Amino acid sequence: MLNLVSPSILSCDFMNIRSELHPFVGASNLWLHLDIMDGHFVPNLTFGIPIIKQIAQISSIPLDAHLMVTNPRFHIEEMKDFGLHNITFHLEVFETSDDSIELIKLAKSFYPSVGISIKPKTQVAQINDKILELVDLVLVMSVEPGFGGQSFIESSYDKINILNQLRETHGHTYQIQIDGGVSNINANNLRKQGADNLVAGSYIFKKDKNDYLGLVESLR
Ligand code: DX5
Ligand code: ZN
Repeated sequence: MLNLVSPSILSCDFMNIRSELHPFVGASNLWLHLDIMDGHFVPNLTFGIPIIKQIAQISSIPLDAHLMVTNPRFHIEEMKDFGLHNITFHLEVFETSDDSIELIKLAKSFYPSVGISIKPKTQVAQINDKILELVDLVLVMSVEPGFGGQSFIESSYDKINILNQLRETHGHTYQIQIDGGVSNINANNLRKQGADNLVAGSYIFKKDKNDYLGLVESLR
């Protein structure tokens, strides 16, 4: 099982992105999580293509783009040369499984890792087997997407458990990533249930600025 942590810059000091990212340079098993929102799939709006391009230019940390957008194809195509490590988009935006499979295949031709995400009200059973076979990552949203600093939804444990069992039974290779309300209080339990990759925003960025890496380690 992997033991990744992905700090989400949604809660960082945007006036000082470069220095905010500095503590993570060279850390192992760490991705930087970029929450991309369009004000449509979710009510909130964050940053777009030009800012992501600049972050990618200055960052040696593997970048993990989480697309909370209605039209992920646009970002998938626009960002294909940025050197992002992983790109994840939401199952809920597709009308049919065939549509999602087609876009996953396209994304896989551009990015080393491609993920599919489900919102809290979407069940694991709604993810088609073929999708589970294709993706490198399944992102379980443990809060309603759109905002940092919300409380963890407890029913997310069941989803991790089901995904973990499906992976074992079918020999799938996806990693399980959890996003929303992650802290040192639930990290251990999340790992035990089979989570490989914990995204954390407010837990890491709102604390003592000198110890971001210590907070990352407290999630392992
Ligand atoms: C929410 C985002 C999360 C967010 C998590 O829509 O996808 O990545 O930054 O924030 P915390 O860790 O504060 O719940
Ligand atoms: Zn996210």
